[in-house]
Amino acid sequence: MLSIPSILAGVLALASVVHSAPASLDAEPNSVSGYAMVPISWNLPVKLDDPTGATVTVTGTIEEAIAQMEASYPGWNATFQAQLPPIPADDGDGASLVSTAGLEDPAKYDCNVDYKKATTLTIVWGINYLRGVPGTAKNGPGPNNCGRVSCSWNSAIYWCNDNDDDKELQWNDIADAASATKNKCKYNRGHDVKGRGSMKENWNVLIRGDDC
Ligand SMILES: *[C@@H]1O[C@H](CO)[C@@H](O)[C@H](O)[C@H]1NC(C)=O
Repeated sequence: MLSIPSILAGVLALASVVHSAPASLDAEPNSVSGYAMVPISWNLPVKLDDPTGATVTVTGTIEEAIAQMEASYPGWNATFQAQLPPIPADDGDGASLVSTAGLEDPAKYDCNVDYKKATTLTIVWGINYLRGVPGTAKNGPGPNNCGRVSCSWNSAIYWCNDNDDDKELQWNDIADAASATKNKCKYNRGHDVKGRGSMKENWNVLIRGDDC
């Protein structure tokens, strides 16, 4: 006859099996399989309406960078939000956005990446934040590194470098690659998204569910 504790142990064992089954879908937060992680730095103008004026370097995701700027310069966020471009109602397959930035077409998309899905609306906001950042992503990930450039509401965008040396890009280029990937890799009638867009010049963006 089964004792209560052994039934309980069985239930607990089952629970832990059920719980651990999707482990590969639930990869470490702030990580990308096969890459080392580096923090992303942002050179942000103290006065957004004077991009040639003083800049400050802050580190983290764009959301963390905005929070640091707001803490040091109250009102910075409101100005940042006010100068963001309008979010396109529907940017189709993203082709026009990519060509605007002079990028080559992405070489390939992998929508079947082994991560949780992100929420499309949150990713759209992250992409728009990237478009609002002036200038070049100078302190980008080195060879075989990734950096998490945006994360909010458990939805993240990573920028990864497959080159042998440093890769310098406009933030708008990274936004374009993320936008094209978002448009290719829709799940649940567009509500969710995950995937990697690999660009011809040996860098890629990854959209995934994450912890933040
Ligand atoms: C910046 O402003 C936006 C829009 O009002 C708000 O959602 C966000 O939480 C603000 N972020 C910070 C760090 O203040």
